[in-house]
Amino acid sequence: MDKNNCKFDRSKTRNVALLKWLDKMVSMCAPNRVEWCDGSDEEWERLCGLMVEGGSMIKLNEEKRPNSYLVRSDPRDVARVESRTFICSYGKDDAGPTNNWEEPRKMRAKLKRLFRGCMEGRTMYIVPFCMGPLGSSISQFGIQVTDSPYAVLNMRIMTRMGQEVLDLLGEKDFFVPCLHSVGYPLTEGAEDVPWPCNPEDTYIVHFPEQRTIVSYGSGYGGNALLGKKCLALRIASCMARDNEWMAEHMLILGVESPKGEKTYVAGAFPSACGKTNMAMLIPPESMKGWKVSTVGDDIAWLKPDDNGELRAINPEAGFFGVAPGTSWETNPNAMDSMKANTLFTNVALTEDGDVWWEGLTEKAPSKLTDWKGQEWTPDSPTPAAHPNARFTAPASQCPTIDPEWENPEGVPVAAFIFGGRRMSDIPLVYQSFNWNHGVYIGATLSSETTAAAEGAQGNLRRDPMAMLPFCGYNMGNYFRHWIKMGKSLKEKPRIFHVNWFRKDENGKFMWPGFRDNMRVLRWIVERSTGRGKAHEGPLGWIPNMADLDWSGMDFTEEDWNKLMSINKENLRMQTLRHEELFLQLSEFLPKEMLFERELLVSRL
Ligand code: GTP
Ligand code: SPV
Ligand code: MN
Repeated sequence: MDKNNCKFDRSKTRNVALLKWLDKMVSMCAPNRVEWCDGSDEEWERLCGLMVEGGSMIKLNEEKRPNSYLVRSDPRDVARVESRTFICSYGKDDAGPTNNWEEPRKMRAKLKRLFRGCMEGRTMYIVPFCMGPLGSSISQFGIQVTDSPYAVLNMRIMTRMGQEVLDLLGEKDFFVPCLHSVGYPLTEGAEDVPWPCNPEDTYIVHFPEQRTIVSYGSGYGGNALLGKKCLALRIASCMARDNEWMAEHMLILGVESPKGEKTYVAGAFPSACGKTNMAMLIPPESMKGWKVSTVGDDIAWLKPDDNGELRAINPEAGFFGVAPGTSWETNPNAMDSMKANTLFTNVALTEDGDVWWEGLTEKAPSKLTDWKGQEWTPDSPTPAAHPNARFTAPASQCPTIDPEWENPEGVPVAAFIFGGRRMSDIPLVYQSFNWNHGVYIGATLSSETTAAAEGAQGNLRRDPMAMLPFCGYNMGNYFRHWIKMGKSLKEKPRIFHVNWFRKDENGKFMWPGFRDNMRVLRWIVERSTGRGKAHEGPLGWIPNMADLDWSGMDFTEEDWNKLMSINKENLRMQTLRHEELFLQLSEFLPKEMLFERELLVSRL
């Protein structure tokens, strides 16, 4: 078929910029067909049907898991690829030393070569979506063009997607153009594969000045669902810097006290470090009357209101959660959220057509099909599910979803929590002395690496505010932006650091975690509303054992002291090692951060 002759329905929108951009994309990518996505049930069923027919998707047992599907990715395409993620600002310093950068003109030329004819033999889907509640002044429109029906189906769960968005997008309204291809054209009738991708030529590229996104070669998660990390974090962080708001890698939850007082808290933890778990926390039964509700599990957009109070929205509409480790014991709300209408990626398949992964049940089923489609038994040497296997589920299916979760004004945030995976050295909880000290705690956040991105696992890496892979501009200026936001807020959220992952000399977790994290959360809420008790330590304000709620739990004073202990010498050495990141950022680092470091060293 003539490459430039593929027509699409121009009557769907009167947004001139959108039509012009689509013309360019269609003629460059040369798809066989172009299809507007309306987000309807009919469309969902048709695309699922197509994928099942093509061998890309397996329908799960309708009785056990209604309207749900399993997808197995190419084993080379299983996580975000940070090494192929680029911020192509005009100047290298605008991207900063922690981002990959390439000159925008060079990158555009490279991408043009890759995208020319890249959708041959395929359908191009046009996906109108909105990050944030429809009609909120904080929300942002995006249009993703993609040749992956899997991406379309995920976007339908993860964003507000379809006709309503087009109806809201006016003639001249701004939207973020998001171009995506799996990079596997079916040239001259070439045969398709179940999970097309192009790992040799993967590029996830952001042009922050133009606010555009181009992604090639991967169909997985944050590489392909462009509303999530690409728009809602990397591009949004640039918008936020320019317009005095914040785009953060944070969960948002509400805590209700037995008296009915509601306090909202946002928490930044690096990928696969427990945001979903914490966002859906169920307090121990013994803490009578305490309730937690869920606003979001991955991303927060925060904006000061007219009273100088920070308000947060969750720009997403679904959860793209880590499956392994999720169970009725560790996270019943996540289990309920994925009871139906859910996509599973890279989990194992049971004999009766349901899903399984490591940690779901204590005992593995005797026979499974693993994430690669191979027969699996408990004796198999490899895991049945990939460690970064994920479920995509609608947030509205979460039993604890907060009544305000779609409030266009957002919810007021009283506290920020930073946390990472730290096997040693770092105590369970402490509070910053003030805002700038809190920014320093966030800026020096570190964590043992996980399977959520490619590369070795278990190494300690610095991950400032859990944003290292997601900040769309110079990290030094990002710290400066945080400091500036603190100055502009009338009521500043209090800032805390937590560590659920400390281990003893036998490698056992010292803190039970999960539900019992509520005991820490209660203290955090009370500290943020001017009630909780604490004393001063070298790291910050810390609770005495008696300052936490221990109802229904046996925890000895000895264990508490161990869990909260610090080794000043070790910490001093580590603090001096903050040098690495700080040296890397050198001239961009706000002087306040050096000042905070000096104060900490002297306290130690
Ligand atoms: P992304 O979606 O990648 O951004 O990550 P996330 O922060 O939402 O990760 P998630 O909540 O899925 O983290 C899952 C991992 O954290 C699993 O390995 C859990 O077992 C572990 N985890 C969560 N909470 C706790 C806890 O309180 N204690 C311990 N020891 N592990 C926990
Ligand atoms: C993360 O890695 O922090 C995620 C998963 O939330 S992904 O959307 O794939 O980036
Ligand atoms: Mn995340």
